[in-house]
Amino acid sequence: MLLHPAGHTRSPAMHRAAYDALGIDAVYLAFDVPPERLEDAIRGARALGARQISVSLPHKEAVLPLLDAVDETARRIGAVNTIVRTGERLVGHNTDWLGAVQAIERERSLGGARAVVLGAGGAARGVVFGLLERGAHVTVLNRTADRAHALARALGAHGSGSLDEIGSIGFDVLVNTTSVGLRSDESPVPAAAIAAGALVMDAVYEPQRTRLLRDAQARGARTLGGKWMLVLQAAEQLRLWTGREAPLDVMAAAFDRASPYPP
Ligand code: ATR
Repeated sequence: MLLHPAGHTRSPAMHRAAYDALGIDAVYLAFDVPPERLEDAIRGARALGARQISVSLPHKEAVLPLLDAVDETARRIGAVNTIVRTGERLVGHNTDWLGAVQAIERERSLGGARAVVLGAGGAARGVVFGLLERGAHVTVLNRTADRAHALARALGAHGSGSLDEIGSIGFDVLVNTTSVGLRSDESPVPAAAIAAGALVMDAVYEPQRTRLLRDAQARGARTLGGKWMLVLQAAEQLRLWTGREAPLDVMAAAFDRASPYPP
C-alpha cells in the first residue's frame, strides 16, 4: 500500500486478517511515499514483484500514467486505488466505488433511488459513478458549487448545487464524502434536513459514529458508517487479485481492533 502521510491506516490489519483466514501466504505492508517518490515506488514494486498494490491518498490520480493498463471503470472515475500484477503488467482498477455501492446495497436497492452526494472531491467521484451505475437519480452538493457542477457534468449526474440547498431537496439516500466530521463533532448539513426513512452513509470513519450519523439516527433515518465502504472495497481488492471471496466479518473485526475509535 502506498500513501502519504502514513496516518492510521486500517488496511494492513484488514488484509492480513483476510490472508490468515484464507491461508494466503502473503504480507501486506504500508509505505509512506511522498508524491515526488511515487514513480520510484511503482518501479520498486515492479522490481520486487509485488502482486497487489493498494493506492491511497494522495496518489490515486497521479498513478494512472505509471501503469501498463487501467481498466475502463477506473479510467472513467479518473482514479486507481488498486493495482494487480498480471504477468509482468501492472493493471489499475478502482474498488472504492463498489465498496460504497455494496455498503448501501446491504440496506436497500439503488435503482430509482433519489440520492444526494455531499462533496465534489476524489471520494465523491467514485460514489457518484457507483450510484449512477446502479440507476439512482443523483444530485451533487458541495460547499463550492462550481466543483459540484463540474463533477455532475463530467459523470452525468442529474443535478448539482451548493450544500445549503440540502433543505429543499428530497432524498432517499444521502452520502457524505466531505471531510466534515473527521475527528470533529461537526456535520456538513443541519439535522433538520434529514427525513425519517432516509438512509444516511458517512464516508468518514473517525469517529465511527459521526455527528451526521447521530443526527440522522435521532431523526429516524437509517445510518451506515464508513467502515463498510472500506471493508467492501478491500474485499474487492482481494477478489481481483486472488479470485476468492473475502471473509467480510473477519476484516470488519480487524478494522475495529486497529481503530483508535470504538465502534
Ligand atoms: P477527497 O479526495 O477525499 O474527496 P478533496 O478533493 O480535498 O478530498 O475534497 C474534500 C471535500 O470536502 C470537498 O468537497 C470540500 O469542499 P470544497 O470543494 O468546497 O473545498 C469538502 N470540504 C472540506 N472541508 C469542508 C468544510 N469545512 N465544509 C464543507 N465542505 C468541506
